[in-house]
Amino acid sequence: MREILIVGNWKMNPISEKVAQKTFVEITKKIKSTKAISIAICPPALYLPLFKKNKSVSLGSQNVFYEKEGAYTGEISVQMLKDLGVKYVLVGHSERRMLGENNEDISKKISIILKAGLFPIVCVGEKERDEEHKYLQFVEQEIKSACSLVSKNLIPKMIFAYEPIWAIGKDALRQATSEEAREMGIFIHKVISDISTPNISKSVKILYGGSVDEKNAGEFIKNGGMDGLLVGRASLNANQFSKLVESTEKNKK
Ligand code: PGA
Repeated sequence: MREILIVGNWKMNPISEKVAQKTFVEITKKIKSTKAISIAICPPALYLPLFKKNKSVSLGSQNVFYEKEGAYTGEISVQMLKDLGVKYVLVGHSERRMLGENNEDISKKISIILKAGLFPIVCVGEKERDEEHKYLQFVEQEIKSACSLVSKNLIPKMIFAYEPIWAIGKDALRQATSEEAREMGIFIHKVISDISTPNISKSVKILYGGSVDEKNAGEFIKNGGMDGLLVGRASLNANQFSKLVESTEKNKK
């Protein structure tokens, strides 16, 4: 049975610690990770210590720096995250790429995360789709670069999140279809297979992210064949998030 991973990315929300605590407690009450479904929340880094002690939901970070320690003002090291009980780290989210993070930074971050024994969730996805299918080359480049510093035996620890930029956030052009996610899932596996082996590629989890809610979540799992979901807005509301998890559970094979 394949295990589904549902990750909530809170981004820079909520702005009050009190609300963060309340939402997190509600989520842990309503949703428990099971053998079939793992849940992770990536809150703003400052809130991570508040949630360290919980046992039902895994913790993720929204970012990390690629050096171990030293004079890097404003950065957070992988060991600091590890000490807070963090298991997953988002890397290469389009909102960070927009702020200047490039493929080289991303590959260095992935390398240090894997060496520390944590799991990188590598976000890839095109800005727009074109008739000539150039967007596939773009995503291929992102994947190859993400794997460039990773030894083959560590590739199975990588998690990829296909996040088409046009489908993210409240200003999204439209939602992606489960068919579009499925095609991209096959493509990502093919690219990874080409740079490693088909078996290694099979063990890599692929999530879908971009306007996932309680209505479409099940579709991405059932018809899209995704191994999980990366959820932004809908993870900030415990009720909505728990409905989303329920619908995923019903739709998994
Ligand atoms: P959204 O964000 O679910 O609010 O579209 C997803 C993401 O950016 O990871």
